[in-house]
Amino acid sequence: MEPMSSTTSIRVSSRVGGFTYAIRNIVAEAKKVEASGRRVRYLNIGDPIQAGFSTPPHLIAAVERALRDGHNGYVPSAGIPEARQAVAAEYSRRGMPVTADRIVLTSGTSEGIELALSALVDAGDEVLVPTPTYPLYTAVLAKIGARATCYRTDPDRDWLPDLDDVKRRLTPATRALVVIDPNNPTGAVYPESMRRALIDLADRAGIPILADEVYSDVAFAGPTPLLGSLAPEAAIISFSSLSKAYLAPGWRAGWLAVGRSERLDEALAAIRKMADGRLCSPGPMQYAITTALTGDRSHQHAFVAALQTRASITIDRLNAIPGMRCVRPQAAFYAMPQVTLPRGRTDEDFVLGLLKTTGILCVYGAGFGMPAEQGFFRIVFLASPEVLSGVYDDMAEFTRTFLSA
Ligand SMILES: Cc1ncc(COP(=O)(O)O)c(C=O)c1O
Repeated sequence: MEPMSSTTSIRVSSRVGGFTYAIRNIVAEAKKVEASGRRVRYLNIGDPIQAGFSTPPHLIAAVERALRDGHNGYVPSAGIPEARQAVAAEYSRRGMPVTADRIVLTSGTSEGIELALSALVDAGDEVLVPTPTYPLYTAVLAKIGARATCYRTDPDRDWLPDLDDVKRRLTPATRALVVIDPNNPTGAVYPESMRRALIDLADRAGIPILADEVYSDVAFAGPTPLLGSLAPEAAIISFSSLSKAYLAPGWRAGWLAVGRSERLDEALAAIRKMADGRLCSPGPMQYAITTALTGDRSHQHAFVAALQTRASITIDRLNAIPGMRCVRPQAAFYAMPQVTLPRGRTDEDFVLGLLKTTGILCVYGAGFGMPAEQGFFRIVFLASPEVLSGVYDDMAEFTRTFLSA
């Protein structure tokens, strides 16, 4: 065998090519703009801390206490019993009765998603994912070698899923239906009739629902009911975390709850088996889960009120820009406007042009699975009203020039 040259680069796997996460990838473009001396306003990532919100002090105290009390070793792979108990009690209180043995604590919602998809889906299988989607789903499916079959959600109907499209895309290879409600990137909250229809559809197809409920407590009309509360016997696996509603995204403190149906027993065992391999999610932060779910939640009122103000500014200002329209978000801190692009231009052209001209960083719709020529892009509106106001001034000016070019 020929000796390898020390200059030959080490080969990477082909799966890396299929793994894309535009929310972070686009930061490389922003860094170039920053290097040229222009200040960048980051509206690409849903991190309330980066935008100036604070983690509630009683949660910080719980983690501090855990660290000082010496809880710095590995914890059980499914998580510490008291936090699993607190999550189970929270789900049960909200109408999805589960016992603590069906809860697994994870490194954020993200690891829950990855564990569940790895445990349920084989290479070549299909999973129904909404479009636009939170891109981790398509990225993990690409890593597994499975296929995301993207079902439409409709901007002309408040971004609700198109049920006929979901049905059309079901095949014998479909292994799960992903429902993100409240939704990132659209801010949609589904009415009960839609939720029941989705549960019914999955039930008839004999597939589980992967319910991403990380924004359930930051809906503007109050916490949304958990999907599993509508049908406690349905095959539903729910994911959430302290990242958004408890303002602690860096802690990677999350959980999944496997519905009580016996049909999910094997899935639970599979998830737990895979969770063993990564030993545990961060231990000290698990102590804050108990405190969060059993303690004072008054910070959520202030946070949700602040988000509503920002959502209103966002919608009023965007819809006043000629050539742009945006559906009003009902939860969280995302808006998905659409700009009517000149022929031949893409959403990425618009977003990169906006970045280079104004220093405003958003994420193009194709990063969430939207057709690039449709001109969608996502804004994170966590910044202060003053900052947002300046952003929308500059965006209006840029859009006027972009559309008249
Ligand atoms: C819909 C959705 N799911 C999951 C996540 C990941 O959250 P976590 O920090 O809990 O991993 C996010 C983060 O933005 C999200 O928007």
